[in-house]
Amino acid sequence: MTEQPASPYTGPTRVFSGVQPSGALHLGNYLGALVKFVALQRQMECLYCVVDMHAITAWQDPRLLRAQTREIAAAYIAAGVDPSVATIFPQSAVPEHAELAWIFNCVARVGWLDRMTQFKDKCGKDKEGASVGLYTYPVLQAADILLYKATHVPVGEDQKQHLELTRDIAAKFNHDFDAPGFFPLTEPLIEGPGARVMSLRDGTAKMSKSDPSDQSRINLTDDADAISKKIRRAKTDPLPLPETLDELKTRPEADNLVGIYSAMSGQTKASVLEQFAGQGYGVFKPALADLVVERLAPVSSEMRRLMADPAEIDRVLAAGAEHARSLAAPILAATKEIVGFWPAA
Ligand code: AMP
Ligand code: TRP
Repeated sequence: MTEQPASPYTGPTRVFSGVQPSGALHLGNYLGALVKFVALQRQMECLYCVVDMHAITAWQDPRLLRAQTREIAAAYIAAGVDPSVATIFPQSAVPEHAELAWIFNCVARVGWLDRMTQFKDKCGKDKEGASVGLYTYPVLQAADILLYKATHVPVGEDQKQHLELTRDIAAKFNHDFDAPGFFPLTEPLIEGPGARVMSLRDGTAKMSKSDPSDQSRINLTDDADAISKKIRRAKTDPLPLPETLDELKTRPEADNLVGIYSAMSGQTKASVLEQFAGQGYGVFKPALADLVVERLAPVSSEMRRLMADPAEIDRVLAAGAEHARSLAAPILAATKEIVGFWPAA
């Protein structure tokens, strides 16, 4: 990728992030994304999108897609995003995302997309059978972010490469069209112990919606019993918990559980070890299960309450889309002017 100069962007700070409505959310989404969404909402202007246009890069049943979109919006709110403070909206309700994505398709290089590891992971051996949308997925993601000139993007570790691509697209656009500082060079907000939550069955694989084993993940909708069972059965090694972070490095499953405890309790991993060093999983797993249940129970019960009143969620999404569109339209119009496009009829 290209060497990036310091951004001369001088506009206001703004946060943008998105989650795909492609299945039930899990603890990785909660810690990698939602918890950060909540923490940022009173620090900067925040836009939290439900990215249904990204979701259809893999097949989605049209009879379910709207309900899935509502469910993600409900998860945002249940996790603590306040729709009167942050803007929550569905991507497909703001058509400007697709228009800017087209312009960026002509800025991004095939060589850049060929390096995207998520595309390779998602299509596996069947590259020929993957949708073209899946290939240009990161370009649409760059459009999501830059359509609002967002300066900060809270995401999990797996999105790091897509955020680098977003910066490359912004820098190349600004350079090629001689518009210095028009788009910001967006900062990813990734750090923290929840940035990469691993599978409960394999400490070297990411916790993921697409893992065939439900035992590998804790879903936001799991009840207390399911959560406790999954943690009790989580893969571990036979050793007691160590005293130092160094010793965790060669023990991926132990490291993951300590990381989850740390992220859920707000303590550092070192202080979790101080508390549990020398203890076996017979002590640590029940303590972890109690903590996860205590933190997630209010989120899942609030999600159920919200999903029982879809009209309320729909009102939030409609108001959010209207606000998002009012921010996006002038930025897209200015972009089209820079490119030399014809004004809209
Ligand atoms: P997705 O479900 O792929 O749309 O992801 C939504 C958000 O959750 C993104 O910010 C991801 O980076 C984040 N995320 C997904 N899986 C994990 C994980 N295992 N650990 C931490 N963050 C994750
Ligand atoms: N690609 C992200 C994911 O799978 C979702 C996403 C789409 C996103 N557009 C975004 C995240 C813009 C942050 C900003 O997790």
